[in-house]
Amino acid sequence: MIYEKIASRRTIRKYERKSVPEKVLMKCVDAARLSPSGANRQPLKYVVVNDQDLLKEVFSTLRWAGYLPDYQPSEEEMPRAYVVVLLDKGIRKNPGHDVGIAVMSISMVAFDEGLGSCILGAVDIEKLGKILKIPSGLEVVLVVALGYPAENPVVDEVKDGDIKYWLDGNGVLHVPKRNLKDVVKRNRDYRLLK
Ligand SMILES: Cc1cc2nc3c(=O)[nH]c(=O)nc-3n(C[C@H](O)[C@H](O)[C@H](O)COP(=O)(O)O)c2cc1C
Repeated sequence: MIYEKIASRRTIRKYERKSVPEKVLMKCVDAARLSPSGANRQPLKYVVVNDQDLLKEVFSTLRWAGYLPDYQPSEEEMPRAYVVVLLDKGIRKNPGHDVGIAVMSISMVAFDEGLGSCILGAVDIEKLGKILKIPSGLEVVLVVALGYPAENPVVDEVKDGDIKYWLDGNGVLHVPKRNLKDVVKRNRDYRLLK
């Protein structure tokens, strides 16, 4: 059921030391390829990274869990693959909304295949471009980190307006989500819903 999958997927930042099958990575990219695209222009390209040395180099360009500076994956727990999403500037000058849709497709197919994922916008784009030898005309827009999950975050309620994820005493990550009634309005009625 799609709703249950979407509701239970959580961002995973710590991964097991187990490689991700090439076939699964290609399936993730294929799902992105087939996703909706504004005016069907399809300006995105994808680099799959799973080479052992490159994994470490890409890892060095990423910043994790901005609200929790001490909650970083160690080298042991680092992602076992990446899909780096590129914009082909020959097709469009900016990625528009396509990139969000593409990374969600990647994350959901990954989740369905038993993988955890983290979409990363906090990327040293210049450094990553050099590491991956990205040709001119292509530009990194987002990175999706992938691997088998080594953590089990849970959804929580937003309390006192605080949306920051937090760690409990057992090291479990809590991810506050705004209440349904706080985010949805009916027709022209913008009063608080009961
Ligand atoms: C566009 C985008 C960029 C993100 N960038 C980062 C990032 O740079 N580093 C990181 O650790 N998490 C990043 N995240 C993950 C969010 O922190 C995460 O989705 C959010 O805390 C909600 O948790 P959930 O995905 O488990 O629902 C990003 C998510 C999105 C959608």
